[in-house]
Amino acid sequence: MSDIVETPAQPQSLPRLNERAPDFEAVTTHGVIRLADYRGSWLILFSHPADFTPVCTTEFLAFAGIYPELQKRGVELLGLSIDSVYSHIAWVRNIEEKNGVKIPFPIIADLTMEVARRYGMIMPGESKTETSRCVFIIDPESVVRAMIYYPLTLGRNMSEILRIIDALQTSDKYHVATPANWTPGAKVVVPAPNTTEMAEQRMSERNGYECVDWYLCKKQVAVEAGVGGADGVHQS
Ligand code: BEZ
Repeated sequence: MSDIVETPAQPQSLPRLNERAPDFEAVTTHGVIRLADYRGSWLILFSHPADFTPVCTTEFLAFAGIYPELQKRGVELLGLSIDSVYSHIAWVRNIEEKNGVKIPFPIIADLTMEVARRYGMIMPGESKTETSRCVFIIDPESVVRAMIYYPLTLGRNMSEILRIIDALQTSDKYHVATPANWTPGAKVVVPAPNTTEMAEQRMSERNGYECVDWYLCKKQVAVEAGVGGADGVHQS
């Protein structure tokens, strides 16, 4: 492990959950893109350490693999690294040539590190010149809803990324929470009562819920068309 760095060389901010995602306008492999271009759809903004590296190549193949599933859920993908747009173009062409897989999403060429700094993607304890494996899940209102930060050595799990999208969309639609290891089709958690009267009512009425006790009740909700375990993407 590298030495622990106490202070980042450059000031960075870390996005926070349920706050507006940091704004950007960036050069990408699909031309100039702004955060505002994604208003109205979900966005997964993710960073990778560098082009033409082995783990990143497996991740790009995997992100391309889940792209159709993301599209069904109204989610766009946007990659980022501190490489030039020419490097990105050469790498995605190489991925296609060697693997027969087209990379369908744009990649930010963040040579100035401006976007990386705004999203706290650089972990100086790991590398000062590469972004860590960060994932920001941003909703149609440009609000940060979930974040994952993985180290350079750890390739991301696509099933978990899809699971997060499904859980957030289910939670928003039905005003419920999702229990540990939830996958689409499994029961969801209904909000706990917050008065003694409501707790008594919960236990006497039940509303068809499956209750362990007044504060832990679950119910079944419908699985969205095209979403869920049946496609084999989720592993529970
Ligand atoms: C990789 O993608 O293989 C990689 C990149 C940076 C550090 C370690 C691994």
